[in-house]
Amino acid sequence: MRKKIVAGNWKMNKTLREAMDFAVSFQERSDELPGDVEVIIAPPSLYLASMEMIKEPAYRLASQNCSHHSYGAFTGEISAAMLADMNVGYSLVGHSERRTYFHETDELLAKKLDACFLHGVVPVFCCGEHLAEREAKRHFVTVLHQLEHALFHLSPSQMSRVIIAYEPVWAIGTGVTASTEQAQEMHAFIRSSIAGHFGRETADAVRILYGGSVNASNSAELFGCDDVDGGLVGGASLKVGDFITIVQSASRG
Ligand code: PGA
Repeated sequence: MRKKIVAGNWKMNKTLREAMDFAVSFQERSDELPGDVEVIIAPPSLYLASMEMIKEPAYRLASQNCSHHSYGAFTGEISAAMLADMNVGYSLVGHSERRTYFHETDELLAKKLDACFLHGVVPVFCCGEHLAEREAKRHFVTVLHQLEHALFHLSPSQMSRVIIAYEPVWAIGTGVTASTEQAQEMHAFIRSSIAGHFGRETADAVRILYGGSVNASNSAELFGCDDVDGGLVGGASLKVGDFITIVQSASRG
């Protein structure tokens, strides 16, 4: 059975003090966390080192992005090698804000995935369609294109370790979520596309998270869908209480 994941994406929010207050308070309340859900937090990169110092943290850390290069003259970039060196085990790859504002293409994201695997960092690959694509009924074509161009060069064993986050762009930060039918339908489509290329066993191992306006009131319903293996949570991951409620809602127990 696939272990559920709830990942928090803080984006460019919080001061260091606020980040550490969150980490300490999350840790103090860790007995409220279910044992069958993996918790990942992606703070701004500057805070990764401090958040890594919490003793036996109840969360694992992710970067919000990483370079496709391992080292060198790439001002402003952070590599997967550096993340691995700092015990940061995960990195978001291809969040829609990176695709939109930083013009990241699936071809570039394919290289970022390779860099992650080279250095032992687990990629959380984000995909999803814009509103106009859904309205034109091109959402499946769009997502399949993203999967094919960024992921389909991987080996089956690498693929089985990728965490996919399906985040319809129209649902991110808007307060509008996909319905459970829309989420389940797309997640099942993603899984069957992976099965078609890599085989059923690989597809069954891949965790597919839903993202886009997940909050403490709607998470249980979304995470209850058969092919939804948890969530990638933006705004609602910034408050300890809300985030804990969302993690609890992913538990099967
Ligand atoms: P949101 O963001 O939960 O604030 O909609 C999700 C994301 O961008 O990962």
